[in-house]
Amino acid sequence: MAKRKIVALPGDGIGKIVLNEAIRVLDAVGFEAEYIYGDIGWEFWVNEGNPLPERTIKLLEEHKIALFGAITSKPKDEAAKELAPHLQGKGLTYSSPIVGLRQHFKLEISLRPCRTYEGNPLNFVRRAKDGTCEEPKIDVAIFRQNTEGLYSGVEWSNPPDVVYEAFKTHPKFVKNFGDIPRDELAISSRIFTRGAVERILRAAFEYARKYGYKSVTVAEKPNVIRETSGMMYQMAKELQQKEYPDIELWNVNIDAMMMWLTKNPEDYGVIVSGNMFGDIVSDGFAGLVGGLGFAASAQYNPTTGVAVFEPTHGSAPKYADYKVSIVNPIAMIEAARMMLEYIGEQEKADRIRNAIAKVIKEGKVRTYDMLKLKGSPDVLEQGAASTQQMTDAIIANL
Ligand code: NAI
Ligand code: MG
Repeated sequence: MAKRKIVALPGDGIGKIVLNEAIRVLDAVGFEAEYIYGDIGWEFWVNEGNPLPERTIKLLEEHKIALFGAITSKPKDEAAKELAPHLQGKGLTYSSPIVGLRQHFKLEISLRPCRTYEGNPLNFVRRAKDGTCEEPKIDVAIFRQNTEGLYSGVEWSNPPDVVYEAFKTHPKFVKNFGDIPRDELAISSRIFTRGAVERILRAAFEYARKYGYKSVTVAEKPNVIRETSGMMYQMAKELQQKEYPDIELWNVNIDAMMMWLTKNPEDYGVIVSGNMFGDIVSDGFAGLVGGLGFAASAQYNPTTGVAVFEPTHGSAPKYADYKVSIVNPIAMIEAARMMLEYIGEQEKADRIRNAIAKVIKEGKVRTYDMLKLKGSPDVLEQGAASTQQMTDAIIANL
């Protein structure tokens, strides 16, 4: 049988380092694949004026599944200054290749699991009734709508006539903003569409059923943001009654959610939100289970099957050129594990999870972030494991 082809997008900085580590783990667990390397990131912006070259898009169109490291991005003005001389003054503007991938492939579902590894010194702890500390075991999966909502980019400062006139047809606008000079207005719109909302809800319920979570929580604000949050919660109720009566549906306002997750995070299972609230709540939970060295996500389109798996962290340029790398490869290895799960290689995915769990529980091999050290080349002398040593330990436990 032909080997499965996976697009490998290392990107910049530590993205290149950790992607390589993840592939070592995939090889070691016996996943047979051919990795096809794709160009993405800063180098391609500087030398070609496009951080996401067309050939990379073609690769993903063909092979559908990608492992992605991380990229460097910079504000527009700074980016323009770094362009190669032959590209200067051509009016090129930088835009993030991650957003580019998301838009091109309509990667409308973002999934971020946040699960406690027992023994991780970075785990959330709280005071128990008797005054001692307790460490709740967190196991949540956050589904974030990834393409619309407040991040859809439909926004104006000093809105043009037609937009302004349209807003003036709303009595609340007239009452509260009717007197404000137009050039003092900035408006960002929050667009939800029924199709996309249904698909993210369905993905959340299906995941809950497949992995045995008892509840799906809608983390929005339906009592205040009635048209968008309200639509999502209403559709969730209908879907749950019709198709998922075996799973409980909880409705928690996003603000309250951020409070509850610091009190009883273990009570939640699958969480589903629109774009911005999902972004916020997923960072919140990620912080409870180890932060950037541990957090990974999948972005996919449920219709085409195109999926990109990546750590949440960026390219961490200050750590990119160490002689011996110190960054934690676990987030990227988690991303690879999620990829295996997505393509139905559950047994291999579980072996990776168990191997990471063993290494963390044993506590002998810990990267600098797990030791709460400040990143520097010296951390290795202070007992921190290098990136490669952490990967080796995981491989040894497969
Ligand atoms: P960053 O995530 O690259 O690094 C922030 C800090 O987190 C690091 O200084 C380090 O202390 C820690 N850290 C990150 N990854 C770690 C790991 N694997 N192990 C241990 N510690 C780790 O974010 P920063 O510094 O804000 O951005 C650097 C560049 O990355 C920027 O150009 C930014 O635009 C880009 N970026 C890219 C992302 C992506 O590709 N998905 C996401 C976030 C930022
Ligand atoms: Mg975020």
